[in-house]
Amino acid sequence: MTMAQAWTKSDWRNKPRVQMPDYLDADALGAVEAQLAKYPPLVFAGEARKLKSALASVSRGEAFLLQGGDCAESFAEFSADTIRDTFKVMLQMAMVLTYGAKVPVVKVGRMAGQFAKPRSAPTEVKDGVELPSYRGDIINELEFTPEARIPDPKKMLQAYTQAAASLNLLRAFSTGGYADVHQVHAWTLGFTEGEKAAQYREMANNISAALDFMSAAGVTQETAHTLQSVDFYTSHEALLLEYEEALCRIDSTSGLPVAGSGHMIWIGDRTRQPDGAHVEFARGVQNPIGLKCGPTTTAEDLKVLMSKLNPTNEAGRLTLIARFGAGNVGEHLPRLIKTVKDEGANVVWTCDPMHGNTIKSSTGYKTRPFDSVLREVREFFAIHASEGTIPGGVHFEMTGKDVTECTGGVRAVTDEDLSDRYHTACDPRLNASQSLELAFLVSEELSALREERNRAAG
Ligand code: PEP
Ligand code: CO
Repeated sequence: MTMAQAWTKSDWRNKPRVQMPDYLDADALGAVEAQLAKYPPLVFAGEARKLKSALASVSRGEAFLLQGGDCAESFAEFSADTIRDTFKVMLQMAMVLTYGAKVPVVKVGRMAGQFAKPRSAPTEVKDGVELPSYRGDIINELEFTPEARIPDPKKMLQAYTQAAASLNLLRAFSTGGYADVHQVHAWTLGFTEGEKAAQYREMANNISAALDFMSAAGVTQETAHTLQSVDFYTSHEALLLEYEEALCRIDSTSGLPVAGSGHMIWIGDRTRQPDGAHVEFARGVQNPIGLKCGPTTTAEDLKVLMSKLNPTNEAGRLTLIARFGAGNVGEHLPRLIKTVKDEGANVVWTCDPMHGNTIKSSTGYKTRPFDSVLREVREFFAIHASEGTIPGGVHFEMTGKDVTECTGGVRAVTDEDLSDRYHTACDPRLNASQSLELAFLVSEELSALREERNRAAG
């Protein structure tokens, strides 16, 4: 067995760090860290292991990863309804994929910890006033005043509390009857109009009929249980390393460190320096790790990152999240697929069609044209088909609320509509209807892939 290099949870402190706040009051920071270190972990090692093995099946093409949720969770928007609506849309999307593409879906929320944001500029200028950028509710506040933008370590405690309450609700939804597939009609939410809503309702009818049939045919208790609950995992960008370190725990089964802040953590496109603090932290914890890959990811960096983050080439450990932007996938994905092939690395390939497609609308809002989102997903599938590799999942920013943040979709949102319900604290998210449309597209792509494989197999 190859032993990973010796590691401790505070080694990242000796590495160059980017995108992290400079707290002014070291004592206040230390007190918060000490407090968090005493709190229970939010997730448990056995759950992270279970997700890793589910992702290993994704890496073999036996399941599909659906990872989605908020760009930035907010303290102000925190409510049971917000969580329920996001969870509901994730279930609907998973149902479309399971039913349409006949593939098991691994469900991972950008939830219960997605609070810290990397920013493209350290400061923001408004009407000639320059202030530090907003970096997520775990760090500072969105309001444009000097006080609001000061990083406050106490916000980590509030983030922990919100994450704990969110997880509590998610666990209840997952097992307490809400996720029971017999509820498939109850998940229709506000989808009363549109072609996709009709398509979803028809599918729900077919699923109900199949369930009635199974019940008439006498399903076993065991099967019934599987249909009544769901495995739902949490994930976030591990950006604020003081918070991550304080929640790092030793898994009593393996004796190895595990991030207790969420089941899966990922490294952002701006913090993936091979010798930087973020990679140093992530390499030492046992959780599944995501790595954003963008247009500036070089083959050389990817090689080093894969060997640092997954030295034993464990399947399910590393998920590469491709985010190149529509029209750029053909230039970048094949070269990185080649690197992965050359290294013989086990990875999950997933597509983030959001972060390479952000533009400024004619009305001044930061938006993402839904057509570009869909186009990037299609390009991702097409390239994997021609490379003979596995398109393992999608990673997206969405909300269950009926927001107008991304333009387009069947219930077309225009540049002028953006101001109606533009609520995001950071990046523009897909609304419920656009999310469902994305799921139908992915389902079609997966079905086509399956047919192609069956044809090839004769
Ligand atoms: C994000 O996922 O919210 C994000 C900032 O992505 P990226 O690091 O790919 O830009
Ligand atoms: Co984002």
